[in-house]
Formats: sequence, C-alpha cells, structure tokens
Amino acid sequence: MFLITGATGNVGRNVVGELLCAGAKVRALTRDPATAHLPGGVEVARTGEMPLDGITSIFLNPVVFWGGADGLLSRAADHGVRRVVLLSSAAALDDDPANELAAPHLEIERAIEASGMEWTFVRPGEFAANTLAWREAIGTGAAVRGPYAAARSTPIHERDIAAVAAKALLTDALVGTRPLLTGPEALTQPEMVRLIGAASGRPARFEEIGPEEAREEMLKRPYMREGLVDALLRLRAHAVEHPPEPSPEVERITGRPARTFAEWAADHAGDFR
Ligand SMILES: NC(=O)c1ccc[n+]([C@@H]2O[C@H](COP(=O)([O-])OP(=O)(O)OC[C@H]3O[C@@H](n4cnc5c(N)ncnc54)[C@H](OP(=O)(O)O)[C@@H]3O)[C@@H](O)[C@H]2O)c1
Repeated sequence: MFLITGATGNVGRNVVGELLCAGAKVRALTRDPATAHLPGGVEVARTGEMPLDGITSIFLNPVVFWGGADGLLSRAADHGVRRVVLLSSAAALDDDPANELAAPHLEIERAIEASGMEWTFVRPGEFAANTLAWREAIGTGAAVRGPYAAARSTPIHERDIAAVAAKALLTDALVGTRPLLTGPEALTQPEMVRLIGAASGRPARFEEIGPEEAREEMLKRPYMREGLVDALLRLRAHAVEHPPEPSPEVERITGRPARTFAEWAADHAGDFR
C-alpha cells in the first residue's frame, strides 16, 4: 500500500488519482478528513497519526515535514517501508546552505539517503499552480503586479509532477534518480497572465513593479520569510538575462509531452472567474 502525504495538495491529489487509475491501494493523509474530499476507494488517515502498517512506499511532501522528517524516516525503516519518493525542488541544484529555497530540500534529501530506503527525489521547478495567487486580481479585474516582467520561467503542470512521482512509486525505473522537471516552454509573467485571461475570459493584465515594492508585498503573505523572499527575487532577477531551459524529463519518463501553460490555464479557468 502507498502512503501519500499532503494528499489534498496540488501534487498529492494528482498522485492519488494516478495510483488509483493504476489499481493501487492508497492511504491518503490529511489534517482534516472531514473536509479533504478525497476519492472513494482511498483509505483516509490523519497526518498527525501517520499510520505506517502495511505501507511499502511513501510519497513525501516536505510541506508536512518542515519541522524535520527524521522521526518519520526511522519509523518507516522500522516498519519495513522500502521506498520514499520525495517532492523536492529544482532549487536543490544549488548546494549553498544560505539559499533558503535549496537548503531545506537538500536536508530532507540527505536524511532520506541516509535512511537506507530506496529513494527518488522529484525536483520540479516553478509550479504553474503558483499563479493561483493571481486569482483575486484577475477575478476582480485588477492588474497582476510583479517584478522583473522580462524574466522567464518554465511553469510545470502539477499533473506532470504527479505522473512522474507515480512512475517512481509504481516501477523501479527511477530508483536512485533526481529527475529535474519543468514545463515545456519558457514564459514571462505577462505572457502567463495573457494565457489565463484567454482561458478564463477575464480581462487579465500585468503591471510591473520594482523589486523593493514586490519584496514588501511578498513578506505580507503567509509562510514568507526574508531569506525565502530574497531567494525568490534573486531567482527572478537572474532569469531576466538567463532564461531557464525546459527539461526533457517529463516526456522521457512519462512518454508524453509536458503539458503547456495554456493547457494548465484551460484546466484551471474556473479558478479565475
Ligand atoms: N511551488 C513551487 O513552485 C514549488 C517548486 C518546487 C518544489 N516545490 C515543493 O512542493 C511543495 C508544495 O507542494 P504542493 O503545492 O503539492 O503542496 P500544497 O498543495 O501547498 O500542500 C499539500 C497539502 O499539505 C497539507 N499541509 C499544508 N501545510 C501543512 C502543514 N504546515 N502541516 C501539515 N500539513 C500541511 C495540506 O493538506 P491538508 O490541509 O489536507 O492537511 C495541503 O493540501 C513545496 O513545499 C516545495 O517543497 C514547490
């Protein structure tokens, strides 16, 4: 049986869907089973209880374990769990302990390597789903405001991350690998805003603001710390002159092209209305 942590999240919910389609048995974790809306056929359990009996493989979302995954990992090894598939991050390519985007992911990766279990570290770049933060602006007809309008990123559909994670759970093909996952094209934020506008039928527009103003606004959001905000802004500034290259890994691993941002926007059009 597969244990899916963060099972109601962007990626986790789709991992659950992929495993069910493959006929696998799934235990899905949430802090609140009453509001989780997980599909029938899934065993639902509370995150705090973390029941491991009968579990052979774990999909681990670090959101659930920022306080430290060591306790879970030693319990998992004791229970005979064979494999952990970690939702890591492309940021982990930077081995600088001062990089607050990278360091926590590398820390969990190293703890998993040391656990003796089989592992796959799925390393996605920027999620297309991050643009859900623009819902209110686009829904109310206000401009989406952000810094570095010329910076490009390669937003990835959460279903493509989930498809790779499911492959890592269901087959031996990805054991001991760290696939770097991105969407298939490098886009600017104004281009993404336009594509969401086209999909949702809303008059969406982008307005560039300076990095200092952006920094102040980002610091007001939940879970944002100074070091994290600075790392995110450095990434954007760098991408103005150095646009990221799309990675071929989603297509190589799943056998189908990575979904475009236009496809993501069509799938989520209702979220912006
Ligand atoms: N966003 C990006 O661009 C990006 C890029 C690379 C890597 N990542 C990695 O992906 C992770 C986010 O994945 P995601 O978007 O699938 O996750 P998510 O949707 O933000 O969260 C997954 C689930 O975790 C539970 N959860 C949230 N906060 C929690 C907490 N403090 N304690 C316990 N449970 C909590 C929630 O479920 P319940 O409410 O049902 O418990 C939530 O639905 C990031 O943390 C990062 O490690 C993100």
